[in-house]
Amino acid sequence: MGSVTWGSGSAVPERRAPGAPPRGPPLLSPAPARPYGADMCGIVGYVGAQSAQDVVVAGLKRLEYRGYDSAGVAVLADGGLAAARKAGKLLNLEKELKDRPLPGGNTGIGHTRWATHGGPTDANAHPHLDNAGRVAVVHNGIIENFAGLREELAGRGHDLTSETDTEVVAHLLAEAYSSSGDPAEAMRQVCRQLEGAFTLVAVHADEPDVVVGARRNSPLVVGVGEGEMFLASDVAAFIAHTRDAIELGQDQVVELRRDGVTVTGFDGRPADVREYHVDWDASAAEKGGYASFMLKEIADQPKAVADTLLGRIDGSGALHLDEVRIPPSVLREVDKVVVVACGTAFHAGMIAKYAIEHWTRLPCETELASEFRYRDPILDQRTLVVAISQSGETMDTLMAVRHAREQGAKVLAICNTNGSTIPRESDAVLYTHAGPEVAVASTKAFLTQLVACYLVALYLGQVRGTKWGDEIRTVVRQLSEMSGAVERVLGTMEPVRELARSLASHDTVLFVGRHVGYPVAMEGALKLKELAYMHAEGFAAGELKHGPIALIDEGLPVVVIAPSPRGRSVLHDKIVSNIQEIRARGARTVVIAEEGDEEVVPYADHLIRIPATPTLLQPLVATVPLQVFACELATARGNEVDQPRNLAKSVTVE
Ligand code: G6P
Repeated sequence: MGSVTWGSGSAVPERRAPGAPPRGPPLLSPAPARPYGADMCGIVGYVGAQSAQDVVVAGLKRLEYRGYDSAGVAVLADGGLAAARKAGKLLNLEKELKDRPLPGGNTGIGHTRWATHGGPTDANAHPHLDNAGRVAVVHNGIIENFAGLREELAGRGHDLTSETDTEVVAHLLAEAYSSSGDPAEAMRQVCRQLEGAFTLVAVHADEPDVVVGARRNSPLVVGVGEGEMFLASDVAAFIAHTRDAIELGQDQVVELRRDGVTVTGFDGRPADVREYHVDWDASAAEKGGYASFMLKEIADQPKAVADTLLGRIDGSGALHLDEVRIPPSVLREVDKVVVVACGTAFHAGMIAKYAIEHWTRLPCETELASEFRYRDPILDQRTLVVAISQSGETMDTLMAVRHAREQGAKVLAICNTNGSTIPRESDAVLYTHAGPEVAVASTKAFLTQLVACYLVALYLGQVRGTKWGDEIRTVVRQLSEMSGAVERVLGTMEPVRELARSLASHDTVLFVGRHVGYPVAMEGALKLKELAYMHAEGFAAGELKHGPIALIDEGLPVVVIAPSPRGRSVLHDKIVSNIQEIRARGARTVVIAEEGDEEVVPYADHLIRIPATPTLLQPLVATVPLQVFACELATARGNEVDQPRNLAKSVTVE
């Protein structure tokens, strides 16, 4: 189905390609075991004086990182409702709208989807409409009781033509509105019937100046403009128009009119909301002349690293983490730290373990959030759980947070997205100041997560007295030099790009490292998998001889992250042996080594230099060439780096 428009009457004319068979009579096909939900999506609503289609589509463009399997838009115009939806990237919808523009209107909604259940087809794309074509709704989540609701609706004479759970909402809203005549009340009535997770935005053709929304779980933020209002999963969707935002809480319904916003609970009582001013502007969410968001975000890293330290160190070099609202007395009682995270954030967590144990002498485990609660972890009031998440929405991490708090543990979130769910549900949050990260593969968020982890580790050391003030000042000074070090790395990346292009036809690349170089190796491999769709694996260098070394044959590229030869030189000695082992078996070695490290030179087929840093801080510089490498290699293979296949930036399903 391409674009479909509905007039002000109740007939629903179908637009179809010439020669295509007409749609058959509506049938109630058996409900699938699991609804064709829209579990992870970007949603947008607008009411104001501008063209709703333009504002909504531009907003969706900013939310495409949340999914790009299909997109759709609905606009209220001329007393009726018009909608278009297309499978595939937003570009397909834009083409459709160019060929068949919707009538001009100033109120509209839109959606971009990441499919979990139900293929990424036109039919499963949002918005979904009621039979009369008077209500349109977009949805993020899964409605678990949809099968029962669907049967009840069918019993009351509704024709449900798709297998999506969202369509049920459109029909329920139409019914509720016809009895109440109030769009917000209709939304509240419907929400009280729904089970599961659902963030919804809807319009009704009888209410041309109203958009209603509801939030349970996935985020929903209001953008407050002058004579116009916005509603979106993320402020990025409306930041070009306003930086004044209102964050909706759990189980709240919002009614947007041009000049006002009303928020209530699902029960109709007035609700408390958080108003805030977004401290970055539209240019932060633009490519700014770079070919991709990823390249821009890689280049943003020196600033992101520096910004994450800003305001957290006083003139004397002591740490002030005012946001960490867990009292020092509680932190002094902590006897174990558990870090939970997914994907790239997990690799930051692996590095945090080294810093926390070294600087605080507290035992620290780092665990994949998706595994955490299923193994019945031992947690109590003396456990500090650190949850790392760029988006603050990753469901696996959120579930780990909930589980930890149920067991009485204190949770400190490290997060990049203001007001997102994980920080809201944690005891405290330390925000990273990376600014918006749009490319699906994480880069600048990772570096800022590392900075935040170092700060947390040092802060624990400061509060618990395991680090002297002058030791903390030394590390803080070293940390503040890292922004410049990252900048220097970025200035020397041409040979890395050349190397990446020369390896574009390979099938496999291995990465090895020791100590904090091991998580860096895993991160390098993850970047390559995500972007270049290549077989890539990161190993602890010492573990190679226990199996993975069998993978090595003539010409296989192996990237080695060499630790600093200063400080813990034993690590360096060991890696030099490891490089020799793999080279002896024919590997083509790419060695990332500190400036002045001459020992590795004879064994490096390719040498990538990084500035000398303290061992624990090395990941901040060692990761950067691996990001550039993956980005360039993927580009050489013709892949689109900002939106890799099958992935989404924030994964709000378990
Ligand atoms: C997804 C993204 C990864 C990211 C992970 C965790 O899988 O594709 O890039 O590292 O989620 O995301 P979070 O927002 O929790 O850091």
